[in-house]
Amino acid sequence: MIDQGIRTHTCGELRASHTGQTVGLSGWVASHRDMGALLFLDLRDRYGITQVSFDETVSEALRTAARALKPESVVHVVGTVRPRPDGQVNAERATGEVEVLATELRVLGPARTPPFEIGAENVSDELRLRFRYLDLRRPRPQAALALRHKLLLALRNALDARGFLEIETPVLTKATPEGARDYLVPSRVHPGKFFALPQSPQIFKQILMVAGMDKYFQIVKCFRDEDLRADRQPEFTQLDMEMSFVGEEQVQETISEVVAAAVGGVRGETPPLPFPRITWTEAMRRYGSDKPDTRFGVELADVTDLVRSCGFAVFGDCAKSGGRVRMLAAPVSRGQIKRLEKLAKDHRAKGLAWAKVSVGPDGRGSLSDGIAKFLEADLGAQLVAATGASDGDVLLAVADTFKISAAALGAVRLEIGRTLGLVDSQRLDFLWVVDFPMFERDESTGALSPAHHPFCSPLEETPGQLERDPENTLARSYDLVLNGSELGSGSVRIHDSATQRRVFQAIGLPEDEIDARFGFVIDAFTYGAPPHAGFAVGLDRLVMILAGEDSIREVIAFPKTAQAACLMTGAPTTIPAPQLAEAGVAVLPARAPQGGASQGAPAEEAAS
Ligand code: AMO
Ligand code: AMP
Repeated sequence: MIDQGIRTHTCGELRASHTGQTVGLSGWVASHRDMGALLFLDLRDRYGITQVSFDETVSEALRTAARALKPESVVHVVGTVRPRPDGQVNAERATGEVEVLATELRVLGPARTPPFEIGAENVSDELRLRFRYLDLRRPRPQAALALRHKLLLALRNALDARGFLEIETPVLTKATPEGARDYLVPSRVHPGKFFALPQSPQIFKQILMVAGMDKYFQIVKCFRDEDLRADRQPEFTQLDMEMSFVGEEQVQETISEVVAAAVGGVRGETPPLPFPRITWTEAMRRYGSDKPDTRFGVELADVTDLVRSCGFAVFGDCAKSGGRVRMLAAPVSRGQIKRLEKLAKDHRAKGLAWAKVSVGPDGRGSLSDGIAKFLEADLGAQLVAATGASDGDVLLAVADTFKISAAALGAVRLEIGRTLGLVDSQRLDFLWVVDFPMFERDESTGALSPAHHPFCSPLEETPGQLERDPENTLARSYDLVLNGSELGSGSVRIHDSATQRRVFQAIGLPEDEIDARFGFVIDAFTYGAPPHAGFAVGLDRLVMILAGEDSIREVIAFPKTAQAACLMTGAPTTIPAPQLAEAGVAVLPARAPQGGASQGAPAEEAAS
């Protein structure tokens, strides 16, 4: 029995009520303290830590064996539970009232000296990922993975209760256009041909609706070859869903309820419903972002019309050439303005104009310093009113294109929230952002690409808008945002083949390519396709936020590095020539990897 480490209790289980019982514990040597007469071992497993005592009443042979234990070895201990002496109770630890007086000790899995101490601060990411099994012995990732499990279970239960079926879709498939590069798998059976790993199950779930499945969901891995960041991995997990005979409201309601129930299940406190909803246009105007962090104010004002004929040429010229002048007010110092200006420029702004605000006893605002000398007194008062500035605030402004002014001042706003400590990290602010544009135009190539994906229903104001004015055509798409992070995306889909073809044409796909890549979808829509809509939640991001982590790597058991490699297994690896030949693959000489997504989307959320 001992050889298998079969235990009577876990290392988190013993309490004063177990006093006098003979128990068997198995676990890892977390530490041992040798104080001569007193000799202690801390035994750790997933459930906690228990102190084992080898005091002077214990045989010398056992004490010698205990002294020789190497940290992180797996051992089995038999002994008797006894209360700790007065003053020795450890209130921080669930098992802190007791200890086990050892009578037997067996090493089941000896450990070499680990490359880092478990739980030590400042261990490099590289070491942590290479020895991920040691890193995962820490309570923090163990708690994150347990939370992940509970959340997934709660989501499954909530969807099951609403009549959704979990249906698996293929991993070896054809490219799905979500805006990233595909991971490719060569086919041995069909030399020269490749499967693509799914960027999402988008096409399959729509076809499941054509098949009459009505309510589908899947907790599913998606694969995207794109530039990685703290909230992106090359393979990640979605809660993917689709419903028939619904509009956007039913999907948003279902997702809100299911997410709120699951979050309530793991947190104890259910977020209030309904989640607030704003349009994309309003999000851009008020926050300069399509995923606003609404945990603090400092909203942007669009002052383009006010400054159109003002004395500051930068503003006037921008307004006249069709750009936007955006402004916000915050109590920042001169030093902070300098740093914020650099941040704005990192987001492609040409500068960050500023002026200091005074508000008189009559409530009328006036400006000084910075660009104040170029602005008429009346205009100063209007800008103070438009931004809601208080006495002592500083106005900060960016004049540029719609996109750059929003992105740059939006980034400035977030930085102000962080540095002025305006963000309450305990809060969960969910927000629906609706009515996104249908397309984005690539600034360098001029090509249109879908802002989300090409299966979203266009929201045409008048028939033919898609062809006439694609850039101003909105889509029936919606995102769920949590604390300034894009948690998920969805849309009402196209379900007729003619509209689907028009959208493919709008993004410049030639007819033969439409038929080769998507002919099977368009065909499916001609055999009785129900109106349908759906959504996908990025589960890694949701768990990350709930676990209070700032990278999704912390909530994935075996994550990849920013270079899309697994340091533990060494993947990706070279493949022996015979195996390559069998797969029909020849390898070209190494070349520098190309960054980014394939469709030329700008850096932000290329894949959505
Ligand atoms: P989208 O591409 O927006 O939509 O993806 C949905 C959500 O998945 C998460 N996500 C990621 N998480 C980690 N690493 C990544 N590389 C990554 N990429 C995306 C985000 C994102 O909001 N088929 C559509 C959904 C639909 O229309 O139903 C889709 O995949 O949280
Ligand atoms: P300049 O006249 O170039 O010295 O700029 C005066 C101030 O306006 C500086 O604080 C610049 O950072 C700022 N500025 C210049 N261009 C812009 C712009 N496009 N948007 C906002 N501020 C700008």
